[in-house]
Amino acid sequence: MKIKVSNVTKRYGELVAVSDLSFEVGKGEIFGLLGPNGSGKTTTVKMILGLHDADSGSISVDGTDPAEDARQVKARIGYVAEDSILYASMTPRDTFELIAAVRGIGEEQLNERINQYVVSLDAREIMDKPISTLSRGNRQKAEIIAALLHKPPILILDEPLSGLDAKSVRVFKEILALHVEDGGAVMFSTHILEVAEELCHRICIINAGREIATGTVDELRERSASAGGSLEDVFLKLTEQDTSVDEAVRVLRAGRS
Ligand SMILES: Nc1ncnc2c1ncn2[C@@H]1O[C@H](COP(=O)(O)OP(=O)(O)OP(=O)(O)O)[C@@H](O)[C@H]1O
Ligand SMILES: [Mg+2]
Repeated sequence: MKIKVSNVTKRYGELVAVSDLSFEVGKGEIFGLLGPNGSGKTTTVKMILGLHDADSGSISVDGTDPAEDARQVKARIGYVAEDSILYASMTPRDTFELIAAVRGIGEEQLNERINQYVVSLDAREIMDKPISTLSRGNRQKAEIIAALLHKPPILILDEPLSGLDAKSVRVFKEILALHVEDGGAVMFSTHILEVAEELCHRICIINAGREIATGTVDELRERSASAGGSLEDVFLKLTEQDTSVDEAVRVLRAGRS
């Protein structure tokens, strides 16, 4: 087992951001954490990384509690954050060299890995430009490469697709598939449900910090009684947003006249 979240609750003052949440992500698995805006995905991810402490419940990453040894946990995880965590004034090349120094990656290995990702993600021309000057998608490519460089067994990716162009999304999907083929584990959050449907072996849907359902897309379909529906239909139904979409459309249409 790679990631185990057991009955975790996290409050920010009065607000319960995550409530009694449990799930597991195993070796060889691509696991999707889906939920509307503000439902607790990023909070959950940050607790797994040891960036936030849970108020109750427990988390283990390959047997280590991130609240006790965040350093050990981070060494095993490649993390793409929701908001950029790279230094804006550094270039991707400087950033990758810094990561290599911290993670003990030799020069030859580093160049090999950089070359592989730079070629596959068309990132050669961004290597020597300050990150602050890069376009949204190109900055995201630098974030992704930075997360992959130390070949971590676990990838935790919070909205990793934001800004990526069609080709990069295709390549990114391949990177994830190869990662789990090699025995790694992936957990990611996304609002792009077509990608989740295509990639995830299992999905956990949360709403207002609570687990609504966990399972394969087929199992979720069964749970929501929307046979033949897309994951988007299933998601809207399980999070009880399907009727509010109808209402939103009605309001918008009424506002035209
Ligand atoms: N540092 C914080 N202080 C206070 N409240 C916070 C903090 N971080 C998150 N929250 C609140 O916790 C709830 C869950 O937020 P979180 O960022 O985990 O949601 P999310 O599912 O990642 O949403 P999104 O899809 O928009 O990224 C929200 O109500 C948010 O406003
Ligand atoms: Mg988030």
